[in-house]
Amino acid sequence: MEEAEYDLYKDVAIIAGPSSLDLGTAIANHLDAELVPVDLRIFPDGESKIKVRKVEKDYCIIVQSTYPPTDRHLLQALMMINRCLENGSANVWAVMPYMAYSRQDREFLDGEVVSTALVAKLVENVGTKRLITVDIHSPASLSYFTIDTQNISAVGLLAEYAADKIKPNAPIVVSPDLGGAKRAAELARILGTDMIVLTKSRDKDTAQVFIEEKELNSNVVGRDLILLDDMISTGESIVEACRFLRRYKPNKIYALCTHALLLGDAMTRIKAAGVEEIISTNSIPGIYAKVDLAQLISAQLENSINAKNHP
Ligand code: R5P
Repeated sequence: MEEAEYDLYKDVAIIAGPSSLDLGTAIANHLDAELVPVDLRIFPDGESKIKVRKVEKDYCIIVQSTYPPTDRHLLQALMMINRCLENGSANVWAVMPYMAYSRQDREFLDGEVVSTALVAKLVENVGTKRLITVDIHSPASLSYFTIDTQNISAVGLLAEYAADKIKPNAPIVVSPDLGGAKRAAELARILGTDMIVLTKSRDKDTAQVFIEEKELNSNVVGRDLILLDDMISTGESIVEACRFLRRYKPNKIYALCTHALLLGDAMTRIKAAGVEEIISTNSIPGIYAKVDLAQLISAQLENSINAKNHP
């Protein structure tokens, strides 16, 4: 006899945090789970005051991406997790599509704080039972958690967007660095095309980006290039990659990423570097958040909840 599916509306609440109100709402709709909006007040000194309505559910799932203001969004997440635990939920899960502090996963320079490890400790010690994130910068950083963690890939959705909306001409996928090679290979595989991996380095003190001069392994003349990165932050990596690639006379260049932080004048500089279009997911809301993560995250949540109840 087939096991009955868990009654998501009865037993699951989605808490849509202030940084991910739309995404959280969409996830609740996909799951047909109860949506719990959050009351937020920011005091003049910058402190957050958060109110979460008490719900009696087995699962309280907090959706809160920790993009800038990073520390504020992170602390708000911890506050909501803590409140749900105090409200008596047995399973408090955190969905942080953009996971802050995942870059500092080791002591690169003497004396640096390994902030990834600290954040893992905070998220875990406050009572989180499971963490779900998307294309985390360093998957290795999840090893600092002892709770269950899931890192979902948005590459499939980005590929779908590229194929349906961009309809690129003889595309080649480009990873700006070695770290992104696996992700780029996956995108190239889905699009049925080849890829190029550039060699990037960054000065650890000044953060300046350098792309190594080398011959490309493919002829890109007249072809559309799809630059893929996990995140675009200052835009420096994309700008430098474009500067290098332009010399080889490609057709259009597109920049795809999961997390578009686009800090400062990144957007303007990327456009000036000749990027036709920037495309990202809605892990961070904004005009480039063209790829919706709601269904992907919902499916993952539903599977995990069902697996937990019918192991
Ligand atoms: C670095 O290894 C990452 O994958 C991204 O390439 C990087 O974080 C992007 O940062 P930015 O836009 O500041 O160059």
